[in-house]
Amino acid sequence: MLLAASTQRTIGFVILAIVFLGGLLYILTNIRSARDEVGSEIELASNRRPYLSDEELEGKKLDMALGGSLLLLTIVAITLPLYWLGEPGRHEGRDLDTWRIFGNRGEEIYVAGAQCVNCHGPDGAGGVVSTALTSDTGEFIAQVNWKAPALNTVLSRHTEDEVLHTLNYGRNGVMPAWGRAGGGPLTDQQLEEIIFYLRRVQIDEEQIRSEVAGGVDAGARQLILATSTAGWAADLRDAEADKAETAQAVRLLARADFDFSCSADIDACVADEQAGQLVTELTAAAQGPLDAAVADWWADVEAAKATAADMALADDPSLGEEGREQDLRFAALEILSTPNAFSGQAAYLQYGEILFTNTAANGTYSCARCHTYGWSFDATAEMTVEANGRDGAVLDEYVQGAGFFGRSLVGGSTVTQFETAASQVDFITRGQSIGQTYGRGGSGGNGQMPGFGPTTESSPVGPGMGGGSGIEFSYPGLLTDEQIDAIVAFERTL
Ligand code: HEC
Ligand code: HEC
Repeated sequence: MLLAASTQRTIGFVILAIVFLGGLLYILTNIRSARDEVGSEIELASNRRPYLSDEELEGKKLDMALGGSLLLLTIVAITLPLYWLGEPGRHEGRDLDTWRIFGNRGEEIYVAGAQCVNCHGPDGAGGVVSTALTSDTGEFIAQVNWKAPALNTVLSRHTEDEVLHTLNYGRNGVMPAWGRAGGGPLTDQQLEEIIFYLRRVQIDEEQIRSEVAGGVDAGARQLILATSTAGWAADLRDAEADKAETAQAVRLLARADFDFSCSADIDACVADEQAGQLVTELTAAAQGPLDAAVADWWADVEAAKATAADMALADDPSLGEEGREQDLRFAALEILSTPNAFSGQAAYLQYGEILFTNTAANGTYSCARCHTYGWSFDATAEMTVEANGRDGAVLDEYVQGAGFFGRSLVGGSTVTQFETAASQVDFITRGQSIGQTYGRGGSGGNGQMPGFGPTTESSPVGPGMGGGSGIEFSYPGLLTDEQIDAIVAFERTL
């Protein structure tokens, strides 16, 4: 667009220059070739009234007439190119105005019209939806909180066309269909207006990195708390189990009596409060050792990477040459992706699993929300469904990557689909595009597998945009290469 504007401006300047130079040339040649006029002495016919004499005509009158025309001509010659010069600016201003209005309308739809905000949070930061889980035959299973992913990074992982697809048709029965195409209430233009709004709320790379890192840190802590054999961890786990039991006892009392409220003379409530206090105390005491354990775990992850790189180099020393960093990276990743390749590999695969199940921003950065059944609605969490008089979890445990909205990744299926770890990295970095096949037999689907690397939107939707307009938007990746590598190793060992 800027390019187009500057060509138009250049043309304007050239025309202006030609007009000035031409005018100057005309004046100069006129001055040079001006001579005294030869007089005319033709006698006047008798029926004609004598007009003004030559002296009178060629004096002030002629000067005024000529001066006037010259003035008008000059005005036209100068204002026309000037108007031309302003035209691209007016054009740009008009576009900007339209885009601003579109964005504002999109915000209006997001907040008030369609109330996306209720599920996806203010500014698209993510949220949860309380929804009823039902069986295939429509029988009520449980009331659950379903994670609605953050939309403030959605343009990093999906093209605008792919987002329009989701907006049109909804997803999994929890994300309603909004577009006419899917039987929803919004027009195509309104969907585009939402996209204009979404462009505004996308967060920057620094914020993305810090959200992902926060989720990884939380995941590492959870993993260590759940698996560490150290006394402080075991004590805390016991205390938490006790607290769950006392809380359940209180819940049962509350269910039996609608007006129930806890007080100091009800044993179950006292026990629950004490159990809670113990958990709080042990949690506080555990912070120091937990920090140390997390640091140790990170060191194990780095050590695993180093070991794999050493093994790759031992296999093929030429990988150490300059310019072959990428080859070394993928050779090491191939080793990290092979089950039981070396002792100490486990920490790296744990790192991959933590990224796969990253809970930051309501699971936005995770793979589990699409590839693990139940993960999106916390199916293994204790659920209390008062209305149905029923307690318990929907699932005992997750089968990571066993498939849900996205395909099953278990049983070595990704090794079959992608010949090399490098080609799988490439797929996850770019995602699946509408209608394009991938791997050895990946379908030409509708682009619902997101891309996790940085991306450029070269065909944005909306008036004055789209292919050929030259307008592009760039978005940072959700994950770094190093993080995608770890996920790939985890998936290839599933
Ligand atoms: C009733 C709650 C609800 C409302 C209202 C809602 N959504 Fe959603 N949306 C969801 C849930 C839940 C998901 C995730 C579905 C899943 O897990 O498969 C989702 C997924 C999406 C996705 C896919 C994101 C991704 O990365 O996978 C987009 C885009 C989206 N919603 C946009 C919108 C917009 C825009 C609106 C308003 C016009 C809207 N949603 C309104 C619940 C909602
Ligand atoms: C929004 C939902 C969604 C999320 C999030 C998601 N995927 Fe997918 N994934 C899909 C869908 C849908 C497919 C199937 C694409 C097709 O066949 O058209 C897929 C396919 C795949 C495949 C190819 C499987 C095969 O055998 O063909 C791999 C590998 C994969 N995803 C890995 C990942 C990883 C790694 C992540 C997280 C970094 C992730 N996915 C996150 C939806 C998702």
